[in-house]
Amino acid sequence: MITSLRILGVCLLLLGRAALADPCKVLIESTDQMRFNLHELTVPVECGEVEVTLKHSGKLSAKAMGHDWVLAKDSDMSAIVNAGLAAGATHGYLPEHDQRIIAATPIVGGGESATVKFATSGLQPGTRYAFFCTSPGHATIMRGTFKFGDSSRLVRANPPTG
Ligand code: CO
Repeated sequence: MITSLRILGVCLLLLGRAALADPCKVLIESTDQMRFNLHELTVPVECGEVEVTLKHSGKLSAKAMGHDWVLAKDSDMSAIVNAGLAAGATHGYLPEHDQRIIAATPIVGGGESATVKFATSGLQPGTRYAFFCTSPGHATIMRGTFKFGDSSRLVRANPPTG
């Protein structure tokens, strides 16, 4: 009996490690200090779908210190942040039906988390992507680089045209 419990325990441990090691599933935390705990996320090209969970490890309410996680091309970040500001709190500081947004979680407050799943079919290896928070004023600090594919093949994004 004890042996079988031990085996069960080992199996659960292995399952837990396997889940954590899945490179297509990402956990990122945000804080009351207006920070993400990661500045760079890398997802291998083998991932057909990516699952990002944003956890707010602080205590402040969504109204006071709410965060979201938004993914877009690096060159689209500023425009999306501005459009989110115009959309306002009632729309979670996100412009509606904005094709530039690749993925976005809703805004979460302290102790909450939200998960977004998205297909990588629209992502191009080598393109520079950014993740950021669209709460007013947050994106200046709450931003990072999102890499899809082999980081050694990444090139700087071309300056925006037009
Ligand atoms: Co934020």
